[in-house]
Amino acid sequence: MRKTIIAGNWKMYKTIVEAIELANGLKRELFDLAGPDEIDIVLCPPFTALTEVFEVIINSNIGLGGQDMYWQDEGAFTGEVSGKMLKDAGCSFVIIGHSERRQFFGETNETVNKKIKAALKHGLTPIVCIGETLAEREKNMTFDVLKEQAHNSFKDINAEEILKTVIAYEPVWAIGTGKTATPAQAQEAHEYIRDLFVKLYGEKAARALRIQYGGSVKPENTAELISQPDIDGALVGGASLNIESFSQIVKRASEVKK
Ligand code: PGA
Repeated sequence: MRKTIIAGNWKMYKTIVEAIELANGLKRELFDLAGPDEIDIVLCPPFTALTEVFEVIINSNIGLGGQDMYWQDEGAFTGEVSGKMLKDAGCSFVIIGHSERRQFFGETNETVNKKIKAALKHGLTPIVCIGETLAEREKNMTFDVLKEQAHNSFKDINAEEILKTVIAYEPVWAIGTGKTATPAQAQEAHEYIRDLFVKLYGEKAARALRIQYGGSVKPENTAELISQPDIDGALVGGASLNIESFSQIVKRASEVKK
């Protein structure tokens, strides 16, 4: 049984005061839901609000994640934040290789690979994003892109380490567009990704690996997506910025029995 994981990626939204308000509201809505043994609930605020959000959710069933990190622990790297610093701020997760980082900030499979290794070194669970663009899907390249991203992003990462990571399949064309992949489209990609990992790491590790879906997840489509056999959770952008919608997503996901 793979534990469901629902993560909220707040992107570049929320001042400190707004972040505290959102975290408090979610804690109130979700406190009696399920313990961390049954579901992982993760908030990924901007760096500026990590400490304050951590103070709100400490000792609750909600965990904290960063949205990116650099692979060195410290040094003259202006503007960067390290895994060591995320850990220090209370994070146990970190999103790596989000398509917005790949598209706008020069992230590559090689940098993703270095970041995954550094995250694992610091005991952070990397949430590693992979996914195809619309042009790639239309050219029937979806599987090739996923294969290339998975092979290169996870280079030199062993089976034990893979179990400490989470994959997020995020079709770029579904992010922030309101266009969700249909449950069948998402399941097809998740199944393909799991098979890739079977080839890379063997059945046992691949069957235990959690693969979450991301791209216009909302309360209305959560249950159907999570019910798919290879979809183990959701990475939520827009709908994670609101107490009602994110708590509804978590509640609906926790009700899905597989
Ligand atoms: P969205 O974003 O839910 O707003 O589509 C998802 C993501 O970028 O992780």
